[in-house]
Amino acid sequence: SKGTYDTFMLKEIDEQPAVMRKISSHYFDGKKINVDQKMLEDVASADRLYIVAAGTSYHAALVGKDIFENLADVPVDVELASEFGYHMPKLSKKPFFIFLSQSGETADSRQVLVKVNELGYHSLTMTNVANSTLSREATYTMELLAGPEIAVASTKAYTANIAVEAVLAKAVGEFKGVKAAQELDLQEQLALAANAIQTIVDEKGKFKEIADDYLTGKKDAFYIGRGIDYALSLEAALKLKEISYIHSEGFAAGELKHGTISLIEKDTPVFAYINDGVGAAHTRGNIQEVVARGAHVLVISNKKYAEKGDQVVVPEIDEMISPIVSVVPAQLIAYYASLARGNNVDQPRNLAKSVTVE
Ligand code: F6R
Repeated sequence: SKGTYDTFMLKEIDEQPAVMRKISSHYFDGKKINVDQKMLEDVASADRLYIVAAGTSYHAALVGKDIFENLADVPVDVELASEFGYHMPKLSKKPFFIFLSQSGETADSRQVLVKVNELGYHSLTMTNVANSTLSREATYTMELLAGPEIAVASTKAYTANIAVEAVLAKAVGEFKGVKAAQELDLQEQLALAANAIQTIVDEKGKFKEIADDYLTGKKDAFYIGRGIDYALSLEAALKLKEISYIHSEGFAAGELKHGTISLIEKDTPVFAYINDGVGAAHTRGNIQEVVARGAHVLVISNKKYAEKGDQVVVPEIDEMISPIVSVVPAQLIAYYASLARGNNVDQPRNLAKSVTVE
């Protein structure tokens, strides 16, 4: 039930700190990580991971690529389920497949899993629904533990998925003796993430003001960032477009100047993310480029990279998993933009919670 909330989406946004704590207490037993040992051996012996997903889960997969490459020291391909099934690239010699699916019922993802099973490869489904089709048909399952997600726009399943990817990547990395995995205190990071999200959701009024100020009467909006912030920008833009119906694009900050900057006019809203250390200085430069064309820019940075004048500054957590925290302002901005337009926040037009056609 919605309890005291008017919408499931806002309730689910607010549940994210509790979800982070639940994932930490479920998957950790002291310092030991509770995951299937056979699965660990399977993943650790793969020469490449293929993460397959759709929509928001695909965006969680893009974040996962960095996490697995860093902590588990294995190359990762991230694939859209609707493309991969019909245009399967040449696979590596020892592939392992990871399916990300909140519902566990997405037909596009399932048709890839059916092929993977036919080819005899092993797979893992990370899902919020333990006895779902994708869970039953894969070799292994890891649960997201986000609790039922009712709003069509996915929020807590995205942040949960990133956290669960980090759990597996750390476990595999430790199994393989990867230093980065041994050194990351993921329990501490998940606790920091929970607290950081709490500080953001405690300041909801601020995001309503931002939505009103930046998006009232607007037809287009952009989210930009580099590296981990680029992956995040794609999710932030999807959240905004699917419930507010404002056309929004997530863009690699450095790529704008190769064409898309022609769309920037006076007062075009541009939300710029700065949590990626390598990209930070260059993204500042890209902000100047759009400001010079009249864009109305809002900077969302973390404490480490914040500069004077940044409008939204979020607490810092480990950069690899930072979208767990920095996505929350975008979830709230999308929510308030949708509400202001009188839309059905929980059930946007043309969309269903799980898409069971290819
Ligand atoms: C976005 C959204 C969709 C789903 C996508 C995949 O908010 O809800 O993009 O993320 O349809 O669904 P699952 O994760 O259930 O496979």
